[in-house]
Amino acid sequence: MRRALVTGVVGGIGAAIARRLAAEGRDVTVSDLPGPALEAAAAALGLPAVAADLGSPLEVAALVARMVEGGGAPSILVSAAGGVRGRVGGPVEEVTDADWRAIFDANVNGVFHLMRALAPHLRAGGWGRVATISSGAGLRPSLTGIQAYTAAKHALVGLTKQFAQEFGPHGVTVNSVAPGFILSNPATRAQWERYGPEGQARLVERIFTRRLGKPEDIAAAAAFLTGEEAGWVTGQVLSVDGGVA
Ligand SMILES: NC(=O)c1ccc[n+]([C@@H]2O[C@H](COP(=O)([O-])OP(=O)(O)OC[C@H]3O[C@@H](n4cnc5c(N)ncnc54)[C@H](O)[C@@H]3O)[C@@H](O)[C@H]2O)c1
Repeated sequence: MRRALVTGVVGGIGAAIARRLAAEGRDVTVSDLPGPALEAAAAALGLPAVAADLGSPLEVAALVARMVEGGGAPSILVSAAGGVRGRVGGPVEEVTDADWRAIFDANVNGVFHLMRALAPHLRAGGWGRVATISSGAGLRPSLTGIQAYTAAKHALVGLTKQFAQEFGPHGVTVNSVAPGFILSNPATRAQWERYGPEGQARLVERIFTRRLGKPEDIAAAAAFLTGEEAGWVTGQVLSVDGGVA
Protein backbone atom coordinates (compact mmCIF):
# COMPACT_ATOMS: atom_id res chain seq x y z
CA MET A 1 0.00 0.00 0.00
CA ARG A 2 1.36 3.43 -0.95
CA ARG A 3 2.25 5.59 2.06
CA ALA A 4 1.10 9.20 1.95
CA LEU A 5 1.83 12.27 4.07
CA VAL A 6 -0.73 15.07 4.04
CA THR A 7 0.25 18.31 5.79
CA GLY A 8 -2.04 21.12 6.94
CA VAL A 9 -4.88 18.80 8.00
CA VAL A 10 -6.25 21.18 10.64
CA GLY A 11 -7.53 23.21 7.68
CA GLY A 12 -10.56 22.01 5.76
CA ILE A 13 -8.67 21.41 2.51
CA GLY A 14 -5.93 19.23 4.05
CA ALA A 15 -8.54 17.27 6.00
CA ALA A 16 -10.61 16.61 2.86
CA ILE A 17 -7.48 15.47 0.98
CA ALA A 18 -6.46 13.09 3.80
CA ARG A 19 -9.98 11.66 3.94
CA ARG A 20 -10.09 11.15 0.18
CA LEU A 21 -6.65 9.49 -0.10
CA ALA A 22 -7.47 7.18 2.81
CA ALA A 23 -10.81 6.26 1.18
CA GLU A 24 -8.86 5.36 -1.97
CA GLY A 25 -6.74 2.91 0.02
CA ARG A 26 -3.60 4.93 0.73
CA ASP A 27 -1.80 4.49 4.03
CA VAL A 28 -2.16 8.12 5.16
CA THR A 29 -0.28 9.95 7.92
CA VAL A 30 -1.39 13.49 8.69
CA SER A 31 0.55 16.47 9.97
CA ASP A 32 0.16 20.05 11.17
CA LEU A 33 1.65 22.26 13.87
CA PRO A 34 1.89 20.51 17.27
CA GLY A 35 -1.13 20.94 19.53
CA PRO A 36 -4.67 19.87 20.34
CA ALA A 37 -6.04 21.02 16.96
CA LEU A 38 -3.93 18.41 15.15
CA GLU A 39 -4.89 15.74 17.70
CA ALA A 40 -8.58 16.55 17.17
CA ALA A 41 -8.23 16.54 13.37
CA ALA A 42 -6.38 13.20 13.37
CA ALA A 43 -8.95 11.67 15.72
CA ALA A 44 -11.81 12.89 13.50
CA LEU A 45 -10.09 11.41 10.44
CA GLY A 46 -9.07 8.21 12.27
CA LEU A 47 -5.51 8.58 10.92
CA PRO A 48 -2.07 8.64 12.58
CA ALA A 49 -0.48 12.05 13.06
CA VAL A 50 3.08 13.35 13.25
CA ALA A 51 3.30 16.99 14.32
CA ALA A 52 5.92 19.41 13.02
CA ASP A 53 6.49 23.08 12.44
CA LEU A 54 7.45 22.83 8.78
CA GLY A 55 9.43 26.05 9.06
CA SER A 56 11.96 24.13 11.16
CA PRO A 57 14.38 21.90 9.21
CA LEU A 58 15.05 19.92 12.40
CA GLU A 59 11.38 19.22 13.04
CA VAL A 60 10.89 18.19 9.42
CA ALA A 61 13.87 15.82 9.57
CA ALA A 62 12.41 14.33 12.78
CA LEU A 63 8.99 13.93 11.12
CA VAL A 64 10.52 12.03 8.20
CA ALA A 65 12.66 9.90 10.56
CA ARG A 66 9.55 8.96 12.55
CA MET A 67 7.75 7.89 9.39
CA VAL A 68 10.76 5.84 8.25
CA GLU A 69 10.89 4.08 11.64
CA GLY A 70 7.13 3.59 11.64
CA GLY A 71 6.89 1.71 8.36
CA GLY A 72 8.71 3.69 5.69
CA ALA A 73 9.01 7.12 4.13
CA PRO A 74 5.95 8.31 2.22
CA SER A 75 6.07 8.09 -1.56
CA ILE A 76 3.10 10.47 -1.78
CA LEU A 77 3.24 13.99 -0.36
CA VAL A 78 0.40 16.48 -0.41
CA SER A 79 1.46 19.75 1.19
CA ALA A 80 -1.71 21.58 2.14
CA ALA A 81 -0.01 23.49 4.97
CA GLY A 82 0.04 27.18 4.25
CA GLY A 83 -2.48 29.94 4.55
CA VAL A 84 -2.12 33.49 5.81
CA ARG A 85 -1.12 32.66 9.42
CA GLY A 86 -3.67 35.05 10.91
CA ARG A 87 -2.52 38.05 8.86
CA VAL A 88 -4.74 40.40 6.85
CA GLY A 89 -3.88 42.70 3.95
CA GLY A 90 -2.46 46.17 4.59
CA PRO A 91 0.19 48.64 3.47
CA VAL A 92 3.67 47.18 3.11
CA GLU A 93 5.14 49.47 5.82
CA GLU A 94 2.98 47.63 8.35
CA VAL A 95 4.28 44.17 7.42
CA THR A 96 6.71 42.93 10.09
CA ASP A 97 9.65 40.65 9.45
CA ALA A 98 7.87 38.03 11.56
CA ASP A 99 4.70 38.25 9.40
CA TRP A 100 6.78 37.78 6.25
CA ARG A 101 8.73 34.82 7.65
CA ALA A 102 5.71 33.02 9.11
CA ILE A 103 3.94 33.07 5.76
CA PHE A 104 7.04 31.92 3.84
CA ASP A 105 7.66 29.15 6.40
CA ALA A 106 4.10 27.88 6.07
CA ASN A 107 3.72 28.11 2.31
CA VAL A 108 7.11 27.50 0.72
CA ASN A 109 9.98 26.83 3.16
CA GLY A 110 8.12 23.81 4.55
CA VAL A 111 7.89 22.22 1.10
CA PHE A 112 11.62 22.80 0.57
CA HIS A 113 12.44 21.23 3.95
CA LEU A 114 10.17 18.25 3.30
CA MET A 115 11.46 17.57 -0.20
CA ARG A 116 15.07 17.83 0.94
CA ALA A 117 14.43 15.27 3.67
CA LEU A 118 12.37 12.97 1.45
CA ALA A 119 14.61 13.18 -1.64
CA PRO A 120 16.83 10.14 -0.96
CA HIS A 121 13.78 8.01 -0.16
CA LEU A 122 11.87 9.16 -3.25
CA ARG A 123 14.87 8.46 -5.51
CA ALA A 124 15.50 5.06 -3.94
CA GLY A 125 11.83 4.10 -4.30
CA GLY A 126 11.72 5.08 -7.98
CA TRP A 127 8.07 6.13 -7.71
CA GLY A 128 6.45 9.15 -6.14
CA ARG A 129 3.69 11.68 -6.39
CA VAL A 130 3.92 15.17 -4.93
CA ALA A 131 1.08 17.68 -4.99
CA THR A 132 1.65 21.12 -3.55
CA ILE A 133 -1.37 23.28 -2.77
CA SER A 134 -0.70 26.73 -4.16
CA SER A 135 -3.46 29.25 -4.92
CA GLY A 136 -4.77 31.69 -7.47
CA ALA A 137 -2.44 33.94 -5.44
CA GLY A 138 0.44 31.93 -6.93
CA LEU A 139 -0.57 33.05 -10.40
CA ARG A 140 -1.80 36.64 -9.94
CA PRO A 141 -2.24 39.20 -7.14
CA SER A 142 -4.26 37.88 -4.21
CA LEU A 143 -7.76 38.81 -3.08
CA THR A 144 -6.25 38.90 0.44
CA GLY A 145 -3.91 41.80 -0.40
CA ILE A 146 -1.19 40.04 1.62
CA GLN A 147 2.15 40.65 -0.11
CA ALA A 148 3.96 37.73 1.57
CA TYR A 149 1.16 35.29 0.69
CA THR A 150 1.26 36.18 -3.01
CA ALA A 151 5.05 36.09 -3.07
CA ALA A 152 5.22 32.76 -1.21
CA LYS A 153 2.61 31.09 -3.43
CA HIS A 154 4.39 32.34 -6.59
CA ALA A 155 7.61 30.89 -5.14
CA LEU A 156 5.82 27.61 -4.43
CA VAL A 157 4.67 27.39 -8.05
CA GLY A 158 8.27 27.91 -9.21
CA LEU A 159 9.59 25.35 -6.72
CA THR A 160 6.98 22.83 -7.86
CA LYS A 161 8.12 23.16 -11.49
CA GLN A 162 11.80 22.93 -10.54
CA PHE A 163 11.19 19.78 -8.48
CA ALA A 164 9.24 18.29 -11.40
CA GLN A 165 12.37 18.62 -13.55
CA GLU A 166 14.68 17.33 -10.82
CA PHE A 167 12.62 14.31 -9.80
CA GLY A 168 11.09 13.32 -13.16
CA PRO A 169 13.97 10.95 -14.05
CA HIS A 170 13.29 9.08 -10.80
CA GLY A 171 9.62 8.32 -11.46
CA VAL A 172 8.41 11.10 -9.20
CA THR A 173 5.87 13.62 -10.46
CA VAL A 174 5.46 17.04 -8.84
CA ASN A 175 2.40 19.17 -9.53
CA SER A 176 0.35 21.87 -7.85
CA VAL A 177 -3.34 22.45 -7.26
CA ALA A 178 -4.28 26.14 -7.21
CA PRO A 179 -7.56 26.51 -5.30
CA GLY A 180 -9.95 29.41 -5.62
CA PHE A 181 -11.77 30.92 -2.65
CA ILE A 182 -13.03 28.28 -0.20
CA LEU A 183 -14.57 28.69 3.26
CA SER A 184 -12.21 26.13 4.78
CA ASN A 185 -10.46 28.11 7.52
CA PRO A 186 -11.13 31.01 9.93
CA ALA A 187 -9.31 33.56 7.71
CA THR A 188 -11.42 32.96 4.60
CA ARG A 189 -14.60 32.81 6.70
CA ALA A 190 -13.73 36.23 8.23
CA GLN A 191 -12.86 37.62 4.78
CA TRP A 192 -16.25 36.38 3.48
CA GLU A 193 -18.05 38.10 6.39
CA ARG A 194 -16.19 41.35 5.69
CA TYR A 195 -17.43 41.35 2.07
CA GLY A 196 -21.06 41.58 3.21
CA PRO A 197 -23.98 40.38 1.07
CA GLU A 198 -23.19 42.61 -1.93
CA GLY A 199 -19.48 41.82 -1.98
CA GLN A 200 -20.26 38.13 -1.61
CA ALA A 201 -22.65 38.25 -4.56
CA ARG A 202 -20.02 40.06 -6.66
CA LEU A 203 -17.40 37.44 -5.83
CA VAL A 204 -19.69 34.55 -6.81
CA GLU A 205 -20.72 36.42 -9.99
CA ARG A 206 -17.04 36.46 -11.08
CA ILE A 207 -16.87 32.65 -10.88
CA PHE A 208 -17.94 30.96 -14.14
CA THR A 209 -19.69 28.13 -12.28
CA ARG A 210 -21.40 30.62 -9.90
CA ARG A 211 -20.50 28.88 -6.65
CA LEU A 212 -17.72 28.84 -4.10
CA GLY A 213 -15.48 25.81 -4.03
CA LYS A 214 -15.60 23.01 -1.47
CA PRO A 215 -12.61 21.27 0.11
CA GLU A 216 -13.74 18.12 -1.72
CA ASP A 217 -13.20 19.88 -5.08
CA ILE A 218 -9.54 20.30 -4.16
CA ALA A 219 -9.29 16.76 -2.77
CA ALA A 220 -10.52 15.32 -6.09
CA ALA A 221 -7.75 17.13 -7.99
CA ALA A 222 -5.09 16.11 -5.45
CA ALA A 223 -6.28 12.49 -5.66
CA PHE A 224 -5.90 12.52 -9.45
CA LEU A 225 -2.44 14.11 -9.38
CA THR A 226 -1.19 11.66 -6.73
CA GLY A 227 -2.80 8.63 -8.36
CA GLU A 228 -1.18 5.80 -10.31
CA GLU A 229 -2.60 7.01 -13.63
CA ALA A 230 -1.18 10.55 -13.50
CA GLY A 231 2.36 9.35 -14.18
CA TRP A 232 2.85 11.47 -17.30
CA VAL A 233 1.57 14.70 -15.76
CA THR A 234 4.26 16.74 -14.06
CA GLY A 235 5.28 20.34 -13.50
CA GLN A 236 1.67 21.46 -13.91
CA VAL A 237 -0.49 23.89 -11.96
CA LEU A 238 -4.13 22.84 -11.99
CA SER A 239 -6.45 25.72 -11.12
CA VAL A 240 -9.50 24.42 -9.28
CA ASP A 241 -11.47 27.62 -8.89
CA GLY A 242 -14.75 27.24 -10.71
CA GLY A 243 -13.33 29.35 -13.53
CA VAL A 244 -12.25 32.98 -13.17
CA ALA A 245 -11.41 35.57 -15.82
N1 LIG B 1 -9.21 28.36 1.63
C1 LIG B 1 -8.94 29.03 0.52
O1 LIG B 1 -9.70 29.86 0.02
C2 LIG B 1 -7.64 28.77 -0.18
C3 LIG B 1 -7.45 29.31 -1.45
C4 LIG B 1 -6.25 29.08 -2.11
C5 LIG B 1 -5.27 28.32 -1.51
N2 LIG B 1 -5.47 27.82 -0.26
C6 LIG B 1 -4.39 27.03 0.32
O2 LIG B 1 -4.87 25.74 0.62
C7 LIG B 1 -4.13 25.19 1.72
C8 LIG B 1 -5.10 24.69 2.77
O3 LIG B 1 -5.88 25.78 3.21
P1 LIG B 1 -7.06 25.65 4.28
O4 LIG B 1 -8.04 26.69 3.91
O5 LIG B 1 -7.52 24.25 4.41
O6 LIG B 1 -6.37 25.98 5.70
P2 LIG B 1 -5.30 27.08 6.22
O7 LIG B 1 -5.09 28.17 5.23
O8 LIG B 1 -5.73 27.45 7.56
O9 LIG B 1 -3.87 26.36 6.32
C9 LIG B 1 -3.64 25.01 6.42
C10 LIG B 1 -2.87 24.58 7.65
O10 LIG B 1 -1.47 24.88 7.54
C11 LIG B 1 -0.96 24.80 8.85
N3 LIG B 1 0.35 25.44 8.96
C12 LIG B 1 0.62 26.75 8.83
N4 LIG B 1 1.90 26.99 9.07
C13 LIG B 1 2.48 25.80 9.36
C14 LIG B 1 3.80 25.41 9.70
N5 LIG B 1 4.80 26.29 9.79
N6 LIG B 1 4.03 24.09 9.93
C15 LIG B 1 3.02 23.20 9.84
N7 LIG B 1 1.75 23.51 9.51
C16 LIG B 1 1.48 24.80 9.28
C17 LIG B 1 -2.00 25.53 9.68
O11 LIG B 1 -1.91 25.16 11.04
C18 LIG B 1 -3.30 25.13 9.01
O12 LIG B 1 -3.95 24.10 9.71
C19 LIG B 1 -3.22 26.32 2.22
O13 LIG B 1 -1.93 26.12 1.68
C20 LIG B 1 -3.86 27.57 1.65
O14 LIG B 1 -2.91 28.61 1.46
C21 LIG B 1 -6.62 28.02 0.41
